[in-house]
Amino acid sequence: MLFNDGRFCFQQWLSCATCHPDGRTGGLNWNLLNDGVGNPKNAKSMLLAHQTPRAMWLGVRENAEAGVRAGLRHIQFAVRPEEEALASDAYLKSLEPVPSPYLVDGHLDPAAIRGGELFERTGCGRCHPAPLFTDLRMYDMGTTRGEDEGFAVDVPQLVEVWRTAPYFHDGRAATIKEVLTTFMPGVSESAKLTESQIDDLVRYILSL
Ligand code: HEC
Ligand code: HEC
Repeated sequence: MLFNDGRFCFQQWLSCATCHPDGRTGGLNWNLLNDGVGNPKNAKSMLLAHQTPRAMWLGVRENAEAGVRAGLRHIQFAVRPEEEALASDAYLKSLEPVPSPYLVDGHLDPAAIRGGELFERTGCGRCHPAPLFTDLRMYDMGTTRGEDEGFAVDVPQLVEVWRTAPYFHDGRAATIKEVLTTFMPGVSESAKLTESQIDDLVRYILSL
């Protein structure tokens, strides 16, 4: 209720769910002031947020608990009792991944199985190791620009990534395929992936 109710906000117009519907992401970019001005970030899903510190794309909050309290204070402009922040933590920790619609009878299909092998072989699993699909570290992948240029980005977890488009910290990639071919071309080129192998890899990621 706290997460979804706009009345807890100063002037009562916005809830956490405004940008994080169902505790996931509304998919929009927002220019929040947590990491500077003029560098909008794509709203993140809250799934697994408490298990994958740091928090925020550039890791500006130590963990999701700090992110929840920052949201109350700096987005809702509200000073609320700690027990309400604890209740929001409890709600967000209770979120369970929804099985991907790309699974067939709850299992990876043959293309996704081939893609899973490629995921390991091309070294994706180094930074995105199962089961959380993040090594909890930050890397400068050359993806930041403008105000953020040269900053390292927190490795996003990939569970439920089928429902969190667009991708990357600034939402620049509309699809997973675009992540791999347009914005991370180095990875697929150095591994010499064919078009159909890229499709397999995409299928695997969409199945997580
Ligand atoms: C106006 C849109 C908006 C509202 C409202 C909003 N958020 Fe967010 N939230 C974002 C954006 C954008 C990010 C990513 C920011 C970044 O990475 O710097 C984010 C990131 C987070 C994260 C980090 C997750 C992670 O895994 O790194 C947490 C936790 C969070 N929000 C909690 C909340 C809570 C709790 C509320 C309500 C008090 C809230 N948010 C309200 C837009 C919003
Ligand atoms: C050196 C560590 C590293 C390796 C290796 C790596 N990634 Fe990533 N990955 C990241 C980081 C950091 C980001 C966030 C980049 C950004 O937002 O600017 C990311 C973002 C992504 C995203 C977007 C997720 C989202 O929610 O926006 C996908 C999908 C992804 N990686 C898949 C892969 C695949 C597939 C491979 C192997 C071909 C791979 N990654 C290899 C670190 C890595």
